[in-house]
Amino acid sequence: MSLDYQFPKSFWWGSAASATQTEGSKNGTSGETIWDEWFKEEPNRFFEGVGPDKTSDFYNRYKEDIKNMKDIGHNTFRMSISWARLIPGGKGKVNQEAVEFYNAVIDELLANDIEPFVNLFHFDMPLEMQEKGGWENREVIDAFVTYAETAFELFADRVETWFTFNEPIVPVEGGYLYDFHYPNVIDAKRAIQVAYNTIIAHAKVVELYHKNYNNKIGIILNLTPSYPRSNHPADLKASRICDLFFNRSFLDPTVKGEFPKDLVTLLEEYGQLPETRQGDAELLKNNTVDLLGVNYYQPRRVKAKEHLPNPYSPFMPEWFFDNYEMAGRKMNQYRGWEIYEKGIYDIMIDLKENYGNIESFISENGMGVQNEERFIKDGRIEDDYRIEFIKEHLKWLHRAIEEGCNVKGYHLWTFVDNWSWMNAYKNRYGFFSLDLKTQERTAKKSALWYAEVSKNNGFND
Ligand code: BG6
Repeated sequence: MSLDYQFPKSFWWGSAASATQTEGSKNGTSGETIWDEWFKEEPNRFFEGVGPDKTSDFYNRYKEDIKNMKDIGHNTFRMSISWARLIPGGKGKVNQEAVEFYNAVIDELLANDIEPFVNLFHFDMPLEMQEKGGWENREVIDAFVTYAETAFELFADRVETWFTFNEPIVPVEGGYLYDFHYPNVIDAKRAIQVAYNTIIAHAKVVELYHKNYNNKIGIILNLTPSYPRSNHPADLKASRICDLFFNRSFLDPTVKGEFPKDLVTLLEEYGQLPETRQGDAELLKNNTVDLLGVNYYQPRRVKAKEHLPNPYSPFMPEWFFDNYEMAGRKMNQYRGWEIYEKGIYDIMIDLKENYGNIESFISENGMGVQNEERFIKDGRIEDDYRIEFIKEHLKWLHRAIEEGCNVKGYHLWTFVDNWSWMNAYKNRYGFFSLDLKTQERTAKKSALWYAEVSKNNGFND
C-alpha cells in the first residue's frame, strides 16, 4: 500500500531535548551553569519564577521516557550532555556519577532500538567558564575541546551521530545583543567575537572527531528564511543583510568552511570585525560538517528601514532592516510566532542549491502552546492543532525530498513538555504532557498520531 506522503526507508522519526531543560540541576552531582547563576540573581525574569532545578526529572525517569519513546515509534532521539555535569567547573576531573548516568541513558536508548544523537552544547555554559569570559576567552575553547574529547572517549563507541552545538547563534543574541541569556551584555562587537570564537570551538571539535573517529559529526542551526516585503531593491537588500547576520554567519563557515565575503566586508566597513588568529581560516576550511541539523519554527519577514539609524547609537544588526508583519499571516497565537510551513521547503532547496545538498534533517520543529489543559478530553490533551502543524510541515518536507533534497529525518521539539529558559513552562511543546507536581506523563493525541506515522513511515491526507 502506498501512502499519499510516503517517506524514504529508514527515515529518522524522533524528537529532541536538552540536558538543562530536562535533567534537573539539583539531581545528582553537577557543577553549575549560567542558568543556575542567573536564576539565583534574577528569579523574577523566569516565567512564574520557575528555574532550572524544576524540570521533568529525566535524571530519574529516563527509563520511563525511553519506554514511551519506543511506544510511539521513535527510532532516533537527540539529547545533550551537560558539560557542567560531566566535568564540574568545565575543566579538570570527570564526574563518575555523570558518566554512569549518560552511559545508562545511551544503553537504554540502544536497548530500545533508538539511536542516540548526542549534542555537546545547548546554551549551558558552566558558570566557572563564563566567569573566565565564556566564548570571548580562547582558554574556554580549549576547555571545550577537552570536554568533547572526554565525551568521545567515553561514549563514541556507541554514539555514532554527534553535534557540537545547538543553535549557537542564540547565546550570542541572548547573552550579548538582546538580553535574554546570561551574562546580559548588549554589545555587538563582543557579540561578534563570541560568535566567531564559537565557530572556532566548533571547528576544533570537528577536527578532533575526524582525526579519531569514523562516524558523523554535525551542528544544529536555527535557520530562519528572511522573506523580503517586496521585490523593491531596498527590501531585497534588507533581507539579504538579515540573512547574512542570522543564517549565513554560521551556515557558511560550518558547511562551506568560510565566512560570506559580503558579511566580512560589511563588518569591516563598520569597524566590527572580530579578532582572529593565524590558522583560523585554514581550520574552518578543513573542518566542515558531515551532517546539518535544521531547527525551524518560524520565518522572518523584513523590509527596508523606515528611518535611518541614529549614527550615535551602538551598532546593531537592526541598523540594516526593519522587521515586517505581513498582513494575513497565519499565527500560532499562543506563542506569538508566525506559522509558515513552506519555510521548511525553502530552507531545504537553499541547502540543495547553495550548500552542496549536504545531508540534513529537521532537528527541531514544533508548536508551543500555553495552558494546554484547556484541550483535555477524557484525561488526554487533544492537540489537533499540533497534529495539523506537524502534518503541514511534513508535506513540504516530503515535497523537498521528491525534488532531491538530502533530508533524512524529522524531530519534534520536544518529547515531554520541558523547562524552557526564561519561558520556563509557559509554552508546552511535548508529545507527552507533564504534570509538574506529580511528574506524571500523559501521551497527547499528537503522540498517538505520530506513532502511526512512524510505523507507516508516512501518512495519508
Ligand atoms: C529552541 C531551543 O530554539 O526553542 C529550545 O533549541 C527551546 O531549547 C525551544 O526550548 C522553544 O523555546 P520557547 O522559548 O518557545 O520555550
